[in-house]
Amino acid sequence: MRSNLGSLSQQLSRVAARQRVRNGWICQSCRVNQARCKPFSTSSALQKAIDNPYYVTTPIFYVNAAPHVGHLYSMLVADVLKRWQVLKGNRAILSTGTDEHGMKVQQAARLQDLHPKAMCDANSEAFRDLANKANIDYDFFIRTTDPQHKEAVEFFWNRLKESGYIYETVHEGWYCVSDETYYPENMIEKRISPLTGKGYMASVETGNMVEWQEEHNYHFRLTAFKDRLLKFYAANPRFMFPQARFHEMVDWVENNLEDLSISRPTSRLEWGIPVPDDPKQVIYVWVDALINYLTVTGYPMWPPGAEHTKGWPANVHVVGKDIMRFHCVYWPALLMAVDLPLPKTVVSHGHWLMGKQKMSKSTRNVVNPFFALDRWGVDVMRYFLIHKGSMAKDSDYSNVFIVDQYKKGLKNGLGNLLNRVTQPKQWNLRDAVIACCGDMFDQFTGDIADQRRRIQTLLPTAEEHMDKFNPRRALRGIMAVIYDTQVYLSNTEPWNKTAEEDRKEVNQIVFHAAETLRVAGILLQPFMPEKMSELLDVLGVSIDRRTCQYAKLQVDYSYGTPFVPIVKGAAGSLFPPIPVED
Ligand code: MSP
Repeated sequence: MRSNLGSLSQQLSRVAARQRVRNGWICQSCRVNQARCKPFSTSSALQKAIDNPYYVTTPIFYVNAAPHVGHLYSMLVADVLKRWQVLKGNRAILSTGTDEHGMKVQQAARLQDLHPKAMCDANSEAFRDLANKANIDYDFFIRTTDPQHKEAVEFFWNRLKESGYIYETVHEGWYCVSDETYYPENMIEKRISPLTGKGYMASVETGNMVEWQEEHNYHFRLTAFKDRLLKFYAANPRFMFPQARFHEMVDWVENNLEDLSISRPTSRLEWGIPVPDDPKQVIYVWVDALINYLTVTGYPMWPPGAEHTKGWPANVHVVGKDIMRFHCVYWPALLMAVDLPLPKTVVSHGHWLMGKQKMSKSTRNVVNPFFALDRWGVDVMRYFLIHKGSMAKDSDYSNVFIVDQYKKGLKNGLGNLLNRVTQPKQWNLRDAVIACCGDMFDQFTGDIADQRRRIQTLLPTAEEHMDKFNPRRALRGIMAVIYDTQVYLSNTEPWNKTAEEDRKEVNQIVFHAAETLRVAGILLQPFMPEKMSELLDVLGVSIDRRTCQYAKLQVDYSYGTPFVPIVKGAAGSLFPPIPVED
């Protein structure tokens, strides 16, 4: 497990290092201005570290096959949400990991003639490698085969049993191994296999094959929670995002709620956590898996009265739309049954499609995320996935689109704007910043006044969308300002204003373009952490002035001297041309 305090201290020593290279000169009027703007303080950050952290989770991934781009997307959305909180100055933690029990994993191991644990060990590592490679800033990587998780699940089960909401019965129904769930009769349909021409029964929702099963097992009295769930949804309109899925869930609870089978006989499934006091049954993989979110917070060994200091209740569970029901219906009901607080929000995202079909291990239409990250670069992939991926809808994955977006947004947008501001011989950025320090800022009209308004919209627009858990809109909003800034520079043409009497105007034009880049660069850090760190280094923005409180016009005049040598031309570009072989 990684510790956030570790990364905080590393960050602080980087701050000190950067401070040494920073140009220290600040004019008198700016010193007054900056005094009003409190810098990031070590003691307040440490205080936050011991207070309630903002807790974000990814789903834990099945280890029956290798990761694909769809999995990377779930991780990435969660990572951006966590990094956004850190940017706002909050302590945040992110957990991810692997879901290792159940029929699906058992069957995959059998097919490979492996012990399930051996297969889990290898495949779990692949998900951890992916998180590391994609620069996912996770604090916990949980595996459901971890001993502390087994203890948490057993404890939870016992609490559930004591609550009186568990009963034993014979269960009959349509089980889908691929989705690891029973479906009610009205969610099943007959399909014909295009390959064999044979008929089979499948889930209407996912199209995956279901089979009739009859077995003795334990049930959770989910139906007893119908009214409480509906009341909870009504009282918590921010429980689910996007809003459209909220209606689907309410509809499910109103019309489809059935008691939930929560164990499997060992005759059918051995690979799971045994039911306490009944070795003939193992706990249903979804109950086991959902409890991971508690395990990482130290459940059940919480300090009495201070449960929240370890993160529970989670602020956000990020999930794909296919697993909303488990998180928005089953999970809250299970938590209600054992009297635990409910997560604050469940954010769901759409699917990545390849050839109009959901990217999935079972259809084998998957994109290997390791190859994609190698080919395009980590931050380019992060940019593309957030820019094109949607919370509400499904999105098509395409290399052509990545190339287009790279050229438009990154190379010709951000990268070119940075070159235009920092490279010309006609001006010096540091001088432009100093020159604009003491100016009266209500004096601007025309293009500069328009540009000032754009800069002022950056933070509120990003905040508005991030508050609705829509990173794509936040990213697009920032990029729209970057495109407008390119037009602003083309209209104002500072490079053609070479007379001495134009100096003041040139400095003002350049200063406002630089301010846009500085503010946008700060706000884009959660999306492209490495590239934005480079961009802010080129602008010479002090590392302790890269948080949201500095993402405003004219709150920092200390920048303008690059921390790194400026290399002119394509080679020195933040986003150089990419070789494309198709
Ligand atoms: N193990 C369960 C989750 C348990 S959480 C307590 C599971 N695992 S999964 O490996 O099948 O999926 C993990 C995540 O990847 C889910 O959020 C799922 O929606 C996401 N994706 C899987 N395929 C996807 C796409 N093609 N596109 C986008 N995300 C998709 O479900």
